[in-house]
Amino acid sequence: MGVIADIIFRRRHTDVYSRVDKERLPRHVAVIMDGNGRWAKRRMLPRSAGHRAGVERVRTIVRMSSDIGVKYLTLFAFSTENWKRPADEVGTLMKLLLEYLAKELDELNEKNVRIRTFGDLSKLPEKVKAEIDRAVKTTEQNTGLTLNMAINYGGRSDIADAVRRIVADGLRTDEIDEACISRYLSTAGEPDPDLLIRTSGEMRISNFLLYQLAYAEFYFTDTLWPDFDEWEYLKALDCFARRDRRFGGIGGK
Ligand code: FPP
Repeated sequence: MGVIADIIFRRRHTDVYSRVDKERLPRHVAVIMDGNGRWAKRRMLPRSAGHRAGVERVRTIVRMSSDIGVKYLTLFAFSTENWKRPADEVGTLMKLLLEYLAKELDELNEKNVRIRTFGDLSKLPEKVKAEIDRAVKTTEQNTGLTLNMAINYGGRSDIADAVRRIVADGLRTDEIDEACISRYLSTAGEPDPDLLIRTSGEMRISNFLLYQLAYAEFYFTDTLWPDFDEWEYLKALDCFARRDRRFGGIGGK
C-alpha cells in the first residue's frame, strides 16, 4: 500500500477493533514474525533490541486475536534452524520467551487463553521448559483463544514425527488417510490455518506448518515485525476477508 493510501486507511479506521469483519474472520491465523534484526539495524540498535520490540508486538497481536474472537493463533517463535544464530542471540530469544510467559501468564489466563507449544522442547534451557510447562498446565482448561507457540519447530520434522508415531502405533495402510495424518501432527485437534502472515517482505514459508498450510491464504507485508501493530493486523484481516477461497473448486467465480 502506498503512503497516501496508508494515511487514508488509518484515518478511515478510527477504531481498529470495531472495523474487523467478524463474519469473515479466519479461525486460525499463523504468523512468521520476521524482521526484528533489520528493525534494530535501521535504528543502529543491537539485534536484541529488535527482538525485545518484537515481543511487544506479540503482546499486541495475541491480545487483539483474543479480543476479536480468532480461535487459534500460531506464532513461529523459534525454528529448528535458529540454533545457527550466535549463542548470545539464542540466549536473548530464550530469555524473552521466558519473560513473556512469566509476565503474561496471569493476563492470558484471565482472558481464557489456552497456551500450547509445538516443536521439540527437549533442547531448551530447563528454566524455559519449566515456565512453558507451567503456562500450558495453568491454561489447559481454557476455552478462548488457543495460542500455539512453535518453539524449536520445523514442518518437516513435524511430518517425520507423525510418520514415526503412525508406524509405532501399528496403523494399517488402509487406516492412513489425510485426516489420520492430521491427528498425528502437532496441530492435532485444531483446524488448519486459514491465514498465514509473514512480515518483513520475505516470501517463503521457511519450514513452517508445511502440511497444514495446504489451503491457507498467504499475506506478505514489507512491514517489519516490531512495526506490525493493530492496524497492520487489521489490514491483513481485511485482505483475508476479501479473498475468494475456492479450495480447488470454482467458488464464487
Ligand atoms: C525474526 O527476526 C524473528 C525471530 C527469529 C524470532 C521471533 C521472536 C520474537 C518476536 C521474540 C520472542 C517470541 C515470543 C513468542 C515471546 P530476525 O531476527 O530473523 O530478523 P531479520 O531477518 O531482520 O534479521
